[in-house]
Amino acid sequence: MTVNITAEETAKQRGFIKKCAEMNARREAPPTAHVHTFGCQQNVSDGEKIKGMLAEMGCGFSETPEGADIIIFNTCAVRGNAEDRVFGNLGALKHEKRRNPDVVIGVCGCMVQQEHIVDKIKRSFPHVDLVFGTNALHTLPELVYRQLTERKREFYVPRGDGVIAEGLPVLRENALKASIPIMYGCNNFCTYCIVPYVRGRERSRKTEDILAEAEAAVQGGARELLLLGQNVNSYGKELGTDFPSLLRAINDIDGEFRICYMSSHPKDATRELIDAIAECEKVTRHFHLPVQSGSSRVLGLMNRHYSREDYLKIVGYIRERIPGAALTSDIIVGFPGETREDFEETLSLIREVRFDSLYTFIYSPRKGTRAAEMPDPVTAEEKGEWFRELLDVQSEIGRGLYEKYVGQTLRVLCEGEGRTDPNLLTGKTPQDVIVDFDGDKSLIGRFVDVKIERAYQWALTGRIV
Ligand code: SAH
Ligand code: SF4
Ligand code: F3S
Repeated sequence: MTVNITAEETAKQRGFIKKCAEMNARREAPPTAHVHTFGCQQNVSDGEKIKGMLAEMGCGFSETPEGADIIIFNTCAVRGNAEDRVFGNLGALKHEKRRNPDVVIGVCGCMVQQEHIVDKIKRSFPHVDLVFGTNALHTLPELVYRQLTERKREFYVPRGDGVIAEGLPVLRENALKASIPIMYGCNNFCTYCIVPYVRGRERSRKTEDILAEAEAAVQGGARELLLLGQNVNSYGKELGTDFPSLLRAINDIDGEFRICYMSSHPKDATRELIDAIAECEKVTRHFHLPVQSGSSRVLGLMNRHYSREDYLKIVGYIRERIPGAALTSDIIVGFPGETREDFEETLSLIREVRFDSLYTFIYSPRKGTRAAEMPDPVTAEEKGEWFRELLDVQSEIGRGLYEKYVGQTLRVLCEGEGRTDPNLLTGKTPQDVIVDFDGDKSLIGRFVDVKIERAYQWALTGRIV
């Protein structure tokens, strides 16, 4: 069962924030914290809450761990290489602890929801002082207070289906963009995926809480709202509402801003949702719709609940209702039991759909998932070859794909200085395509109309009209 963190508990944590702030105020200089977030947008959003709480405790922030008073690693478990990266970085902190024995080193996020990982940290990383799970994020003030006063090693990973904690302070990484979780957890149990095990059951925030946060963000200057969930398309099931209704309500908030969302599971991408997006002018014209495989047989083994044909029908309806929408996807290569024929179906699907871009992954077995128990006869070398073949086919498709934008005038959110040339400005089109253009820095944070003049493989250039 989902636990809603009570107002009393939140008030108690605010009390600990105050106590830490008082202790920190007595120091010669304010303490610095280094927060390193790995993984997806959900984790980035959690990282913003960690920073929000630490800021209210009086911490400043540093980009690197050297010399920091508090170091927190907010970890990701989705693939083996994500975990390896965390362990590599964590090992390097041994020197930091030797140099500065007073530093508090904490590890949180998805990795520590797994018992074997906690055991490994206990055994092999004695310099880690604090471990806290995804359900314990809101207790950070209390945990930090204990570290400052008692300095005992603490491991706090509460079990359970998951919590919803409202009202935590947030320190946003980017003033123009506000990540707003609309739900937490996942019930889908795709057979390759660790997320349902480390993030608990699916639970939605109340619409009124989301709307209040969205309104405050827009009033505070945010120009892009990113609605987050592992499958936003199933928002509100237990509340008697749904994602299309939420989109319409956010679209009705006054002001010019853009609404983005992720991730979107094809099994719940209904015509009604696509109609709502078509009618909501603030919603991005970009669909990130992870297909994972082009083979219905593999999709069945993955427990995805749609076939190749179902997916192509959704794409057809998107293209009919919102011509010119951008389409991107995730693909896993080398799922256990995937054959050359299955893989060729993935190639034929991406040729048929012609995605704007792809996020591609080689299958990585995750302990405790169903796929990790399935026979997996294809060698790593062969999977590597398929992977490179997939990249080649996609880069062939991507070539010239952006030519269609040349000559069009698009509404662009101006986000900052140009990436390659600081004399230019950079922004994103309604399709989430990057565009560089001439203009005054005072336009940053505003929407402007840009006529597209040239297309490159990953970006556009244009001129303000
Ligand atoms: N909830 C999101 C996905 C989160 S994980 C969704 O359903 O779209 C992001 C991507 O990582 C997935 O879409 C999948 O392509 C990839 N992925 C997840 N588990 C993986 C694994 N064990 N091995 C390789 N790729 C994986
Ligand atoms: Fe993982 Fe599937 Fe849930 Fe996405 S929908 S988080 S891939 S189990
Ligand atoms: Fe990673 Fe957890 Fe996100 S496993 S992908 S950080 S939900």
